Amino acid sequence: QQQIESFTIENPAQLEQFRIAYVGRKGVIADLFEGLKAVPAEDKRAIGAELNNLKNFAQNKFNDYSASLENQQLNGKVQAPLDLTLPTVPDELGAIHPLTIVRNRIVEIFERIGFNLSEGPEIEDDWHNFTALNFPLNHPARDMQDTFFVEKNPDIALRTHTSSVQVRLMERQKPPIRSLMPGRVYRNEAISARAHCIFHQVEGLYIDTNVGFTDLKQTLYHFVKEMFTKDTRIRFRPSFFPFTEPSAEIDISCQLCKGKGCNICKYSGWVEIGGSGMVDPNVLENCGIDSQTYTGFAFGMGIERITMLAYQIKDLRLFTENDIRFLKQFNPLS
Ligand code: PHE
Repeated sequence: QQQIESFTIENPAQLEQFRIAYVGRKGVIADLFEGLKAVPAEDKRAIGAELNNLKNFAQNKFNDYSASLENQQLNGKVQAPLDLTLPTVPDELGAIHPLTIVRNRIVEIFERIGFNLSEGPEIEDDWHNFTALNFPLNHPARDMQDTFFVEKNPDIALRTHTSSVQVRLMERQKPPIRSLMPGRVYRNEAISARAHCIFHQVEGLYIDTNVGFTDLKQTLYHFVKEMFTKDTRIRFRPSFFPFTEPSAEIDISCQLCKGKGCNICKYSGWVEIGGSGMVDPNVLENCGIDSQTYTGFAFGMGIERITMLAYQIKDLRLFTENDIRFLKQFNPLS
């Protein structure tokens, strides 16, 4: 006991020596317990009790010192002198993603002329993505090549365009409808500087009595001049979509080369930013809207493309690479 008492423990190494000598299974006390076997039966009880006391004594000393050493270490840390000349850890502020900036700007422009916002699910059924939009049953756009199917029969897929939100809106709301529908869409396409399998569109839908193609044109003229510059030119190119008739592709003068020709506009001076047209009467009827009373227009534009033009970005893969040096460069547009 005296030995145990006089053993000095001032650091973790000494604590460990103490543990090995007295507490551990190969220490002296363990040896003494081993020797108990040879003690005559009548003395075993008394000596056993003594040994137990000794063992507890050693264990308690070990526990006390290990706790106090731990405290010392903690206190040591807290009490380290504070160096007020050290620079602080910089607080990095996040930045708004360029696609978000542009989407917000688009929403702002259309809200000012009376459009509200609508949303729909990214996982869609065949009806909302295709059938209600007047796609014939064997239309090539339903092919495995374009569409990511989640389930076959009944078909459930990742929406290939925001036009599915038009359908959902017309099904639940009677005209007048004037709504903007931004969202993420998916197509099974090879990834390149100009295309991605995940991208964003913003759909617009305007349905009322007496809505004509001139309304569509004027709305998009207004948008393009607000989004870009007053001298931005726009042209409507005849096209086809199953859900609009007539249909037109929307082109604007290339913002990167100002019409001089570059690889983004493929040296034509024009870039396509989306599709548009008068909503096909079949679509109105599919959604429970009387096509004798109401007409409307719709358009769908690519947010990536508009962002590339607004910020002179030449490769849309940058949007999804999460390189902070790229992402933090963008200031809000107004
Ligand atoms: N949904 C079409 C597309 O993704 C775009 C579009 C929307 C065309 C609305 C006409 C009207 O290509």
